[in-house]
Amino acid sequence: MGKVYYVSKNVGLGMLVLATVALATIIALSIAYDKERAKNRSKPENGATDSTSMPTPLTTPSTPKEPWDHYRLPDSLVPVSYNVTLWPRLKPNADGMYIFTGSSAVIFSCVKETDLIIIHSNKLNLSNFYGHHAKLSGLGDATAPTIQKTWLVVKTHYLVLQLRSALAVGASYVLYTEFQGELADDLEGFYRSEYTEDGVKKVVATSQMQATYARKSFPCFDEPAMKAVFTVTIIHDRGTVALSNGREIGTADSVIDGMPLRVTTFEPTERMSTYLLAFIVSDFVNIQSTQNNNLLIRIWARRKAIEDRQGDYALNVTGPILQFYEHYYNATYPLSKSDQIALPDFNAGAMENWGLVTYRETALLYDPIMSSTGNKERITTVIAHELAHMWFGNLVTLQWWNDLWLNEGFASYVEYLGADYAEPTWNIKDQIILSDVHKVFAVDALASSHPLSRRQEEVNTPAQISEMFNTISYSKGAAVLRMLSQFLTEPVFAKGLSSYLNRFAFGNTVYPDLWDHLQQAVQNTPGMHIPHTVHNIMNRWTLQMGFPVVTIDTRTGSITQKHFLLDPDSVVDRPSQFNYTWFVPIKWMKTGVEQQQYWLLQKTDAHIEMRVSGEDWVLANTNVSGYFRVNYDLDNWDRLLSLLNTNHQALSIINRAQIIDDAFNLARAKIINTTLALRTTKYLSMERDYIPWESALRNLDYYILMFDRTEVYGALQSYLKKQIQPLFEYFKMITANWTKVPTGHTDQYNQVNAIGIACSMGVDGCRELIKSWYRQWMESPHHNPIHPNLKSTVYCSAIAFGGVEEWDFAWRMFKNATLASEAVRLRSAMACTKAPWLLNRYLEYTLDPTKIRKQDATSTMQSIARNTVGMPLAWNFIRARWSYIFQQYGRGSFSFSNLVNGITKRFSTEFELQELKKFKEDNLHVGFGSATLALEQAIEKTTANIKWVTENKARVLKWFTEEST
Ligand SMILES: *[C@@H]1O[C@H](CO)[C@@H](O)[C@H](O)[C@H]1NC(C)=O
Ligand SMILES: *[C@@H]1O[C@H](CO)[C@@H](O)[C@H](O)[C@H]1NC(C)=O
Ligand SMILES: *[C@@H]1O[C@H](CO)[C@@H](O)[C@H](O)[C@H]1NC(C)=O
Ligand SMILES: *[C@@H]1O[C@H](CO)[C@@H](O)[C@H](O)[C@H]1NC(C)=O
Ligand SMILES: [Zn+2]
Repeated sequence: MGKVYYVSKNVGLGMLVLATVALATIIALSIAYDKERAKNRSKPENGATDSTSMPTPLTTPSTPKEPWDHYRLPDSLVPVSYNVTLWPRLKPNADGMYIFTGSSAVIFSCVKETDLIIIHSNKLNLSNFYGHHAKLSGLGDATAPTIQKTWLVVKTHYLVLQLRSALAVGASYVLYTEFQGELADDLEGFYRSEYTEDGVKKVVATSQMQATYARKSFPCFDEPAMKAVFTVTIIHDRGTVALSNGREIGTADSVIDGMPLRVTTFEPTERMSTYLLAFIVSDFVNIQSTQNNNLLIRIWARRKAIEDRQGDYALNVTGPILQFYEHYYNATYPLSKSDQIALPDFNAGAMENWGLVTYRETALLYDPIMSSTGNKERITTVIAHELAHMWFGNLVTLQWWNDLWLNEGFASYVEYLGADYAEPTWNIKDQIILSDVHKVFAVDALASSHPLSRRQEEVNTPAQISEMFNTISYSKGAAVLRMLSQFLTEPVFAKGLSSYLNRFAFGNTVYPDLWDHLQQAVQNTPGMHIPHTVHNIMNRWTLQMGFPVVTIDTRTGSITQKHFLLDPDSVVDRPSQFNYTWFVPIKWMKTGVEQQQYWLLQKTDAHIEMRVSGEDWVLANTNVSGYFRVNYDLDNWDRLLSLLNTNHQALSIINRAQIIDDAFNLARAKIINTTLALRTTKYLSMERDYIPWESALRNLDYYILMFDRTEVYGALQSYLKKQIQPLFEYFKMITANWTKVPTGHTDQYNQVNAIGIACSMGVDGCRELIKSWYRQWMESPHHNPIHPNLKSTVYCSAIAFGGVEEWDFAWRMFKNATLASEAVRLRSAMACTKAPWLLNRYLEYTLDPTKIRKQDATSTMQSIARNTVGMPLAWNFIRARWSYIFQQYGRGSFSFSNLVNGITKRFSTEFELQELKKFKEDNLHVGFGSATLALEQAIEKTTANIKWVTENKARVLKWFTEEST
């Protein structure tokens, strides 16, 4: 599945600093991702309910269970092929229900003697045949035993058939079922998606099977290793089109029950897993092209979107990306067609159904006028991610969900390679540092993190499976695979990969199978040497959580590694067989010259080459190819900082970002002092590149939150003003006084940072500039002159530095917005005003569903709390009405915990801590629902903030004061 992670790039970090609201926007835009992360965070890692300490059903003798009580299928039967017919009704029936009906015949063979047939079936009404839920017949010479009884097990999602005698080993049988299911709008299995076009409500039948929803569409052996061939038939209304994994091979008009209908049949699929199936009925249209050997490529969407040419960009990049992978994997695209479809209503970002990939509209459709550069980048990377799965994941599939990290980590890594091939001028490969490596460092540096790899027995229930879809799997998976490919070198990595894919095509694997093939590739490469097997090296990174900080003392050449924990006082109670030491591949350079890769294999070691003196310096983890942080002796830090200040381009863009991010995090962990971290930002007055700036702003954001209500803020503001001024002038120049869009891809992102920060820090000319743009728009509301890249920042600044007129205009535009992304920008920008009465009025609006949709209420409150002026207002507001807000918005809402997080983010005084505790006591009788954990964490974080502020305030004030003159 695609990660739903992207913060639209035009909501750049510039706004963070600005009226300090953007985080709320980010939260609003990435709710699904937050959901992933929240799952990750709230997973009980220790204690009684820990999934890792749960007794394994299969091996616990004290709780003998029937086979149908196990969440895993028995291994006695294996499916061979299915004939599936489905008929979704796009209009409600007499009871107002949307339904689908269908039938399925599955051929399976018996490999172990059994008198039970256990097959998945969930929420389906099965028809009755002579008192049973299914019909059984033998294939060929086999005669089927008679059915004694059949029943359904709700908890484990099974249909069970008890037979009067055993099935014969080696024989094959056909199980036939007919069923009816609800075509619900629950985004699971075969479901209904609704949208409005030209004022008309339209219904699409579509599907999402991953991970355990195929069983909600038809009875099937719903595990990834139970691969089979599927022959699909779809019955649908005339005037609609049916799609599935295979190419359509026939359509015929037919009349069923007096209704004029159409029957579409599809070519049989390749051998594949149930979770990759897809069925869609819609009135969508497509644009298409064909590639080399007749491969048909189509992009499907609403007619209007296709007519507006919103599918063109996706069609343009799909061919090149497929070609890239064919070459990279050394394996041809396994299917005869590639469909990609944009759905108005879709839960994940995208889903890699084999041959029929489904997307959210924002992840596939690009509007040359309305979309920002960030939108475009997202489309390219999501397509590259999903198409990478066509081989890795779909052609070769992992045996079970415990290895999900390899599937998702892999696609999350190679998506950068595929996207880079399609858009070679973007330097997109560098962005893995911000989007994955640094992002997951933050999670993986906590004592509550968990290892990438889990044992099969630890992952059984659908809930446990869905927990696997988290940041660690995606981003850490990507980071360690990237490290692996770098120390093996790309060609060796690709060679092993290709041999793995060719060997296991149409089959299933466990992750060590990939290690074996990579090891083979190493052995077949003359001169290639690694200090341990791929297996042994990678175990250290996949079987234990966290990552090391490597400390290099250039005075002696000594090197040590230590498990990096953001909170030095946190206690790790998860044992590791490797004692939290790693085999660390260290690429490094000395005074600008690349050195031979060094392997740190023990806790401490000495590498005399790393001893330097005089002007020489050492920089380790060049290009951040390794998954670790680096610390040095103070002399070397000084030399690196002086290099940044005199000739920063001597270091690569991502190493500049790395120095900043490492320093700030080492300071948070009290390994180096805070002023050393701050000193890494001094050279920024000369920095023009996006990635280092973005890294610095993300790190400085904490300082802004802690100090924007104290005397430190004045000094911080003067300092940042001084630092951002040259960047602002630079963009003014390269855009010919703001009349052009910068040509560089990441320059477009950094322009957003430049404007956002310059305006909030008071750089001359900035506020006037954005005010004039916004004025122009107010004067002719139908001709918005603001470039899509800049909209979020400009709206927010204009409202922050404007008055009621600007606000009311935004409100009118918000009410009239036809584009969801435009409404989101405006809703968040309205929280930027500095006028308390406007903020209070806006808070009142959040509880009026005619003004702010109920689903947007809490995220709007959060946006308001993100604003320094709005924070106390929002806090008073929710305290005063907690019981109402909780009743109305708290139940079953997964974003509710974000509200508590958002409002308490700045809390850093003893007084606020007492208020928070009192709030908890006063409302115990009401409850906190899904925010319960967030409230506990808020108390903990506030305590930590108080401590940090106490320890650092004086020196931070002194530093900013000295440096801002
Ligand atoms: C599946 O459909 C094919 C083509 O219609 C047919 O030949 C075959 O017998 C069917 N298989 C089963 C098990 O029904
Ligand atoms: C798609 O490619 C064509 C031909 O190269 C080009 O003219 C067009 O601008 C591209 N469309 C988009 C949206 O990139
Ligand atoms: C690509 O595959 C072909 C045939 O499977 C094989 O002969 C060739 O060596 C492979 N090339 C690489 C670079 O692995
Ligand atoms: C971990 O530490 C224990 C006890 O100090 C030691 O016996 C064991 O060999 C260590 N394991 C590794 C892999 O270093
Ligand atoms: Zn994926």
